[in-house]
Amino acid sequence: MTSTKAPVALSLENISLKVQDGDAIRTILDNISLDIRAGEVVGLVGPSGSGKSTLLTIAGCLKQADSGVVTLYSRNKNEAIDLGVKGAEAARVRRHHIGIVFQQPNLLPALTVKQQLLAMRRLGRIFGWSDGGKRDAEARAEELLRAVGLEGFENRRISQLSGGQQARVNVARALMNSPEVLLVDEPTAALDQKTAGAVTRLIMDVTHKMGVATLYITHDLGQLHGADRIVEMVDGRLQHTDHERVGVTVAAG
Ligand SMILES: Nc1ncnc2c1ncn2[C@@H]1O[C@H](COP(=O)(O)OP(=O)(O)OP(=O)(O)O)[C@@H](O)[C@H]1O
Ligand SMILES: [Mg+2]
Repeated sequence: MTSTKAPVALSLENISLKVQDGDAIRTILDNISLDIRAGEVVGLVGPSGSGKSTLLTIAGCLKQADSGVVTLYSRNKNEAIDLGVKGAEAARVRRHHIGIVFQQPNLLPALTVKQQLLAMRRLGRIFGWSDGGKRDAEARAEELLRAVGLEGFENRRISQLSGGQQARVNVARALMNSPEVLLVDEPTAALDQKTAGAVTRLIMDVTHKMGVATLYITHDLGQLHGADRIVEMVDGRLQHTDHERVGVTVAAG
């Protein structure tokens, strides 16, 4: 499904993080390197507490590593973006380039399904970031809701949706700003097996169709048969690192 020639979209190089734990210093992430290509789902599994979510928050510009480099290669602007930034700059990078799907959708009860998606654009406008205008936002929201199988649900409130439908809104909302990187942290943990499988397939499907680079964390290895690659985290180390690391160049187009 994924061309081996697809360019690297997210590159984590030698990421390490230590925390002070009482008198001791504890290593949370130990020299992690991982590349994810456009259109590829990399599954990340590993025991609880092994560092999966911490790695995701670093890749999502929500936290900074002690050392190492995280780079996003933007297909739109053909530029390399350093993700080791903080504050307003980190928020701007996330807004333009990264979609994040957490287990808890944190959808706003007062808004309809479509408004959840439109709010992503409005937030950007509050911070003075340009967007494609109202009509463009409406069209994007409608397109995404179709893509996640929620056509006809645009005007429902969140309380009128099932857990699986809320998970679909969560995915659609993360894609609203056309991110190049999608970071997914156990969005199906509270769903039954069948619904979880459908939401996982949806994430894999949009990854392949939209050419997003997706990091998908799950406890359930069974969810990952459609993944392009699976890596395992144990005690802050990656057990199956990407052996086909490419020379990191920004691909044209
Ligand atoms: N702010 C923090 N300060 C100190 N330690 C932390 C902090 N955040 C996380 N940790 C520790 O880092 C380790 C990795 O946590 P993380 O949440 O990344 O694990 P995880 O692999 O996502 O686990 P789970 O599968 O349970 O979600 C854990 O031991 C956790 O206690
Ligand atoms: Mg976690």
